[in-house]
Amino acid sequence: MENPRSAPPAVIRAVLFDAYGTLLDVYSVGLLAEQLFPGQGQALAVLWRDKQIEYTRLVTTSNGGAHYQPFWELTRAGLRYACKRLGLMLTAEREQQLMNQYLHLSALPENKDVLQALKAQGIVTGVLSNGDPAMLAVAVKSAGLEGLLDHIISVDAIRKYKTHPDAYALGLQATGLEARQIAFVSCNSWDALAATWFGYQTLWVNRYQLPFEELGTQPMYTGSTLRDVLHFFPTSSLN
Ligand code: LAC
Repeated sequence: MENPRSAPPAVIRAVLFDAYGTLLDVYSVGLLAEQLFPGQGQALAVLWRDKQIEYTRLVTTSNGGAHYQPFWELTRAGLRYACKRLGLMLTAEREQQLMNQYLHLSALPENKDVLQALKAQGIVTGVLSNGDPAMLAVAVKSAGLEGLLDHIISVDAIRKYKTHPDAYALGLQATGLEARQIAFVSCNSWDALAATWFGYQTLWVNRYQLPFEELGTQPMYTGSTLRDVLHFFPTSSLN
């Protein structure tokens, strides 16, 4: 666990998590993609994810948000693009299978323990996600995380995706806290970077040993599993 900063952090009252890839395991989507398109599953999963996120940025930054579509629709559009780009035949049935898998992701294994430990200490917990409310509700339920999250915050309320600062500001509105009193946790380096710029205390969970973004700012902490969130609470029995 690395902490490149020396100033003592403010007391953390809430922990907000990114959803896809952070609380929810998107790996199963890659496995299904591999079954449907042998030898191409990994490439499809990566391109699908990249396109999905690119589309969130396109609709947020163009024409004052006039082209906004919910995350579910952008996810579908990203899948269609990725299959065309890779020359894969996406039948209606395969599309439905892959989208359905995306809807019913499991929780990463350590997540429940971590959320339970946070709750036991009275820490406010939540999700702050690009996912639209219907998608998040199904995902949180099928991952078995219901009851462990105080807030399920979707950017759909403002029709602007992360990394727009208004999207990160939803966490302040939901909790009534300042950004420095909130830990924001993401496996996505771009998300951890933008949340750091916004003013949250941040943990980048680098599950896949990737490099961090090269834009001159580091997250407050870098860890390898969600369990590292407990390092925000060094003097408590959480650690
Ligand atoms: C989310 C995506 C970006 O949950 O992972 O917001």
